[in-house]
Amino acid sequence: MTINPIEWTGKSVKLIDQTKLPYEYTFVEINTYQEMATAIKDMIVRGAPAIGVAGAFGVALAAKETTEIKELEKIGEYLKSTRPTAVNLMWAVDKQINHAKKIKQERHSGLDPESHEMLNQVQHDIYDVLVRNALEILNDDLNRCKKIGEHGSSIIPGGANILTHCNAGALATAGYGTALGVIRSAFAKDPKIKVFANETRPRQQGARLTAWELVNEGIPTTLITDGMCGYFMKKGMIDLVVVGADRIAANGDAANKIGTYTVALAAKAHDIPFYVAAPRSTIDMKIKSGDMIEIEERDRTEVTHINGKSICPEGVNVINPGFDVTPAGLIAGIITETGIYKPSEIASSAILSHK
Ligand code: MRU
Repeated sequence: MTINPIEWTGKSVKLIDQTKLPYEYTFVEINTYQEMATAIKDMIVRGAPAIGVAGAFGVALAAKETTEIKELEKIGEYLKSTRPTAVNLMWAVDKQINHAKKIKQERHSGLDPESHEMLNQVQHDIYDVLVRNALEILNDDLNRCKKIGEHGSSIIPGGANILTHCNAGALATAGYGTALGVIRSAFAKDPKIKVFANETRPRQQGARLTAWELVNEGIPTTLITDGMCGYFMKKGMIDLVVVGADRIAANGDAANKIGTYTVALAAKAHDIPFYVAAPRSTIDMKIKSGDMIEIEERDRTEVTHINGKSICPEGVNVINPGFDVTPAGLIAGIITETGIYKPSEIASSAILSHK
């Protein structure tokens, strides 16, 4: 089964409703940038590369309503504010806004400002270009994930037991996945590999999304709760860890779903290699270290409730950071579309030359 979390219908965007998985495989149609902002915020679409693609379509949909650059910039900021940690969203939205500026400059020179017909034509052109651009970002991400898979599969030992945390699969990207891309490619070469999927509290992306993707694909998968991974590591049942990332700082520190840091610490204690798989659009060279990455704080009900039902007394205090940062020192390698790098090599401009 091919999973396309984001599709362009020709006039709107079709998203798999990830909040309904694994119970229902349904879609949501997005017609406006406001609807896209809500879909990103409510995690109908989620995962760093996927929200980048969604944000790019959000800007394109906005261009149906306005191509005033100031307005588009405001809308871009609004889209970017929906989820602050994953840099792919900022990267894709900024790319679209810069594109709109460029076209506007090119097409507006020598234009009669009184001619409504000409102005309408420019608006139409900008909308068309932004849609094409968003489709390019989508296809580009898919290709990057396949390359990440190829590179990553080269370091997976035969018959390995691989642990992953959260969902860095087809659903979190334009398709195929980053960490799950590595697992998919490795499984295609070696059907003896097996996966341990951490449940990933509070949103349970590991149970609801990763396990769903892997089971559908026939990849042997064992679901464990987050606190169990040290136990299985100590028993020698995990050979390596591969996770995705939402933002990688210039020093190689990597932000990913809350709980990832704990997995990396446990892996270090048991001498198990811990890898991060991500496209270069996840690398933020403006951020020197992981300490500077903004960590999204999410609603308390994600912790206090499961499936709409409270699991704790009402007056309890709750803190719910969505992400944590794994320091570069705990990361054996960062698997990208151009190869596998030590965290210390991430800043090298050669790696980023064609970001
Ligand atoms: O809050 P989410 O579900 O959007 O978070 C996504 C993650 O943190 C994933 O683990 C992932 O590695 C980044 S996306 C490939």
